[in-house]
Amino acid sequence: MKDGVYYSDYLQLDKILNAQQLESARPDSQGAHDEMLFIVIHQAYELWFKQILFEVESVAGIMAKSHIADNSPDLYTVHHRLKRVVTILQLLVGQIDIIETMTPLDFLDFRDQLRPASGFQSIQFKILEALLGLKMENRHGQEYYISQLRPEDVVKIRDAEKKTPMIALINQWLERMPFFDDPKYWEGKGQHEFWNKYREIYEQSLNPAEKNNMQVFDQLMMGDKRKPEWALSPRARRAALFIMLYRDYPLLQLPFGLLNVLLEIDECLSIWRYRHMSMVHRIIGMRTGTGGSTGKDYLSGALMKHHIFAEFAGLTSFLIERGKLPKLSDELKAKLGYSH
Ligand code: HEM
Repeated sequence: MKDGVYYSDYLQLDKILNAQQLESARPDSQGAHDEMLFIVIHQAYELWFKQILFEVESVAGIMAKSHIADNSPDLYTVHHRLKRVVTILQLLVGQIDIIETMTPLDFLDFRDQLRPASGFQSIQFKILEALLGLKMENRHGQEYYISQLRPEDVVKIRDAEKKTPMIALINQWLERMPFFDDPKYWEGKGQHEFWNKYREIYEQSLNPAEKNNMQVFDQLMMGDKRKPEWALSPRARRAALFIMLYRDYPLLQLPFGLLNVLLEIDECLSIWRYRHMSMVHRIIGMRTGTGGSTGKDYLSGALMKHHIFAEFAGLTSFLIERGKLPKLSDELKAKLGYSH
């Protein structure tokens, strides 16, 4: 055999493959066949969480730059890595099928021996939520959230919450959108005229029952002030809506892809939460979780509340039909095309 890197050393398989210590294998326990599956599946999740965090942190590093040139590889890299995150999350949703091969009775064989451990204590999962932009004050069951974790783990999550989250980095990037403030790209009095025209067309597109939408539109889109509870400023929202509307222009295709991938991440996380909650209901019914929460009710609250990129999803309420879009100036069309 040649010298060099050896498969099992490189992957440190001695550590990974010896890290399954079954509680039900203790001498005073009766044994539970499915505990091996339970441990392996959680470990597989944690490894994938590690990879997701690695990608998200690298993306945050790029997005934190004060300038991201349209023709640099940065935006492509960001999009590509977040797409990878989505692919991993889809796998994680699929893995619930495997845990569902464990029946409620099989789980009861070892369930009590796990208390008070719970997937709820997955620090990587909570750090991921924080890095994407879930704020502590928006978490469901906040007291419970703190009480179940070791103090050093609470510190880790607090530290993650102190970093600028993905949604804020995206907000900053949208606020810097080039050409928005340059009068040469806009007819008349600059982009204000564009948005006033847009507002008019949008108002005409509403049916009588939707007239209140205008108030929301004015507050979220037209103003300059940002309420502290908003993740996105009106200026960033205008840029995002503009990207969604004119995404067929080459310069906006990648930015559109980026906004879309954020929604995909939120959607995958929601599907995971839903599938996990349904699986929990099927396996433990209405009993409390090993982590001490109300079980299904807690998970249902988190499912409804923990949408991180909801403000982007909300922008679709303000779209108008393609055929009615305000025409762009020739200068702007050239800028958004291949020839700029
Ligand atoms: C038999 C299988 C499972 C059951 C019965 C179960 C049950 C529960 C319950 C009841 C909770 C709420 C907290 C508590 O009181 O414990 C919870 C939370 C959680 N579990 Fe599971 N779980 C299972 C498998 C998994 C797996 C395979 C993962 C993968 C890592 C996982 C990750 C999580 C996470 C991340 C939370 C927190 C969710 C949030 O805060 O939105 N669980 N689980």
